[in-house]
This record gives sequence, structure tokens and C-alpha cells, in this order.
Amino acid sequence: MLIAIINGPNLDMLGEREPGIYGKQTLTQVNEDIAKFAAGEGVNVEFYQFNSEGDIIDCLHNVFCDGIILNAGAYSHYSYAIKDAITCRNIPVIEVHLSNIYKRDEFRRKSVLTDVCVGIISGFSTLGYKLALQAFISGNYILEE
Ligand code: DQA
Repeated sequence: MLIAIINGPNLDMLGEREPGIYGKQTLTQVNEDIAKFAAGEGVNVEFYQFNSEGDIIDCLHNVFCDGIILNAGAYSHYSYAIKDAITCRNIPVIEVHLSNIYKRDEFRRKSVLTDVCVGIISGFSTLGYKLALQAFISGNYILEE
């Protein structure tokens, strides 16, 4: 099983960016931790980070994998282009947010991506990526309503 983990804009600034909300770990450290967890579970992971919407869309179009874990950052709240890109492929996507988007600024309380994803994990910091991996590994997600 190969899972792609795609992080969107400003997530390359983890560690420095609002550590009270997003934590003190850098994205490199977060990814190293996820990679160790994945290796222990016997699953392959590939990491991507893009600040541009178009780069995320290109990745969603072209990535070859069994599942995608996507934290699209602020694009989650308004990018219908990323939403459409998710529906271009027949690959399950789990949406992850480090913070609980439902108890933050009004504009963050809605993700336009959630209804084309198999589920959303929000508010569990970097554990969210591992929880999403566990969902893929165990097959504990529902594809069709
Ligand atoms: C985020 C939440 C978004 O609202 C924000 O724009 C981000 C990070 C999160 O992981 O909590 O960039 O996706």
C-alpha cells in the first residue's frame, strides 16, 4: 500500500508558524515521525508540500498511490478547483487539519473539500496524519454513502 501525504500552503512553515496552534515541530520532523510510524505499520508513504493551488491540483492529477492524506491549508475553505481535482481520480482522500477548524475563525469553519473526501480529521495536531494512515491501513472508511 502506498499513501501520498500532501500538505498545502504555509505548512512548510511549521515550527515557526503560530506554534501555539500548529506546534513546534517542523514539517521535516513531522514527516520523519510519520515515516517511522508508517514503516512500523508496513505501509509506504510519499510526502509532498506545495504552496500553490495549481501544484496541489497537478499532484492530485498525477500521483500514483492507493490513498491520499490531504491538508490543503487555507485552500480547504474555498478551493473548488482542488475539490474538482479530488473528484478527477478514483483515489480515496482523507482530509486532515492540525487544528480544530470548527472552533476557529468563521472562515475556517467550513471546508469545501470534506464532501468529496472519505472523512475529515481535525484538531488532533500531527497525530491526525497517523490516524488517517490507520484508517487506510485498516480499511475503516466508507466509500459510498
Ligand atoms: C490548517 C487549518 C487552515 O485553516 C489553515 O489555513 C492552515 C492549516 C490546519 O492544519 O489546521 O493552513 O489546515
